[in-house]
Amino acid sequence: MIGIPLPVVNVEQKLWLTASKAFVTIPCSSLGGEVQEKMADVEGLTEARQVTVSSSPAPGQFHIKGCAHLDWGMKNRLSRIIKPDTGRTVMLAVDHGYFQGPTSGLEVMEETLAPLIPYADCLMLTRGILRSSVPPGSQVPIVLRVSGGNSILSELSNETWNVSVEDCIRLNVAGMAMSIYVGAPHEHQTLAAFSDLIDAGYDAGIPILAVTAVGRDMVRDARYLALASRMAAEMGANFVKTYYCEDFPRVTGTCPVPIVMAGGKKIPELEALTMAYKAVTEGAVGVDMGRNIFQSDSPVGMIKAVRAVVHYQEKPESALKIYKDEKKSSGINNKKRAVTTSKKK
Ligand code: 5RP
Repeated sequence: MIGIPLPVVNVEQKLWLTASKAFVTIPCSSLGGEVQEKMADVEGLTEARQVTVSSSPAPGQFHIKGCAHLDWGMKNRLSRIIKPDTGRTVMLAVDHGYFQGPTSGLEVMEETLAPLIPYADCLMLTRGILRSSVPPGSQVPIVLRVSGGNSILSELSNETWNVSVEDCIRLNVAGMAMSIYVGAPHEHQTLAAFSDLIDAGYDAGIPILAVTAVGRDMVRDARYLALASRMAAEMGANFVKTYYCEDFPRVTGTCPVPIVMAGGKKIPELEALTMAYKAVTEGAVGVDMGRNIFQSDSPVGMIKAVRAVVHYQEKPESALKIYKDEKKSSGINNKKRAVTTSKKK
């Protein structure tokens, strides 16, 4: 059972996540015990029961969970991101600069992107990088980050919607992405902006990706991630990006739209592949991975290996071999190139 301690002190609301023994603390001077007591609806909250998960639709149905009743344009755009032949996607997240500037591995975007674009089902990035660093002839679908206004130097959740739908149409994007900061100081601001974006997305027929659980102090357990992901879906998100965690089926199984797994900080390649493998076998439709691809010592090897896991259920150990083989052959090619260049001199 979710227990919400009452009365709550005037300066903050504490949402006690009983099973995980974790606090999400929401500074909020206006929430006193009096206001809390009026929130009768929280009293009957019980934990979600265990659910079984499946990311595959029934035969004859649209291949994307929860999206069967969307309009044609929405379905078409979603199908460019989540592939109809496998029902999966490998999204490459390279939007980090929008709040943290030049990021390791993303210093010169053209150099990072050019070799990876052929293997990405979709790029998630900002309009600045799209216009400056992605060839317009490229056929890779774009999920454009349309939120910002924050930086690593200040409160991360102080973010809002910052790209017009008109510009998204001009840029021919397949989807729009916005972070929601559930449980953070600017929760309400981001959820309100998210609602406006959802309306705009339906108007234009452009699907919305909700990015959840970004933040320094977020407790990334199944309870919190299920809460944030389900809230995003209830508000109208067409798909949701969240982190992998223990008891992940609780997150995917209680979210009525597809979940893509965020990669998180760089970890050894086998661990990242194992995490991706677990995520897709536990109900995610794929990944939206950044640092574990572009910060690898073989980004192309890593994205090929991730593709094998996500689209073809390759086991992590054999996918690792794909990464290693690519690393080895590109090392040999680099050496050959160096020899050829020095001979020319
Ligand atoms: C956070 C994002 C990033 O795109 C994403 O989290 C980065 O991917 P990774 O964690 O795999 O590097 O949406 O703002």
